[in-house]
Amino acid sequence: TDLSVFRALSQFLVFVYCSLLWRGLKFILRKVTGRCELQRICYNNKHGARRSLKIGTTPNISDSLLRSALSVDSDRVEKTIDDIMALKKINPDTNPQLGVSLGASLLQIVGYRALLMQVEKLRREAYDCENQEHEEMLLKLWKELRPDTPLSGRISKQWCEIGFQGSDPKTDFRGMGLLGLHNLLYFAEHDKATALQMLSDSLQPKHNELNAAEWEQKSLDKAIGYSFAIVGINMTELTYSLLLSGALKTHLYNVAPELPGLTHFQQTFCHLMQEFQRFWVEEDPSDIMEFNRVRAKFQRRIVRQLQDPDAALCPHFSASDLRLVNL
Ligand SMILES: *[C@@H]1O[C@H](CO)[C@@H](O)[C@H](O)[C@H]1NC(C)=O
Ligand SMILES: *[C@@H]1O[C@H](CO)[C@@H](O)[C@H](O)[C@H]1NC(C)=O
Repeated sequence: TDLSVFRALSQFLVFVYCSLLWRGLKFILRKVTGRCELQRICYNNKHGARRSLKIGTTPNISDSLLRSALSVDSDRVEKTIDDIMALKKINPDTNPQLGVSLGASLLQIVGYRALLMQVEKLRREAYDCENQEHEEMLLKLWKELRPDTPLSGRISKQWCEIGFQGSDPKTDFRGMGLLGLHNLLYFAEHDKATALQMLSDSLQPKHNELNAAEWEQKSLDKAIGYSFAIVGINMTELTYSLLLSGALKTHLYNVAPELPGLTHFQQTFCHLMQEFQRFWVEEDPSDIMEFNRVRAKFQRRIVRQLQDPDAALCPHFSASDLRLVNL
């Protein structure tokens, strides 16, 4: 035990030594460059993930952010900036750009948290057949995906044509609640061509060499292999888990210069749907039993992409388009 006391003590001393060294280094840097850490972060990193990620983990800022309300309120953000400037003894008059840069990053950080809460709320809301709004959204989804085929009834085997598992889709929403329905509907409405193409591909025989007789014997899941709606709900879970773990920060800070919102989340979902299908075809699984494997591999690939501070998963949704949608 003497040894372990000694070990703990020496670790402690190393820690003290390092933190003194770090402080001294910061002091010298500040003297030499005439700037504090915040200013250096803002000068050396362009707006977006590179800057906001660093600012979000700067000690006093993360404290102030924790204290400030979760709501995205620009007055509060301004107040927080004033506090931070005062704390860091920065004169706002001689550093006007710093306040602006800091404000933009704080809005992104607070916005990400607000988005997470909004998404969580939708996820927790169960699909309810008694709720008129829910029912209307579901029927709308049918109309968007099957514009030429009327639905024979609310409870119908036809739901399987768009990839639900049974005659009442409500049970399929269990995992992701209303979030799954919102995402599917957004995909069908705003990225319609892609959604319809994906749906139609999911209903095609996997290999063209399958002749008609063989095809007759195969069930639908022997087609390209996935059920559109079920995969949509599953990709909703993937998008949600990336948001929850913070992995989406790089992407969202880069594509939403002002404020990440639900639209950005849904567009990320659309992108993941499209990418998953491409990946599925590339992987060429022999049947749906391989879903777990392909999905896990896909997730690893996306997580790896998101580790790049310049990651932007769907650059074709330009920032200005998003701003219009948000207003
Ligand atoms: C700023 O952060 C440092 C290090 O975490 C801490 O010691 C200090 O008390 C903080 N200052 C304020 C005013 O919060
Ligand atoms: C999505 O798929 C994975 C892998 O098959 C599975 O573990 C998970 O439960 C699914 N999630 C939902 C919401 O369907």
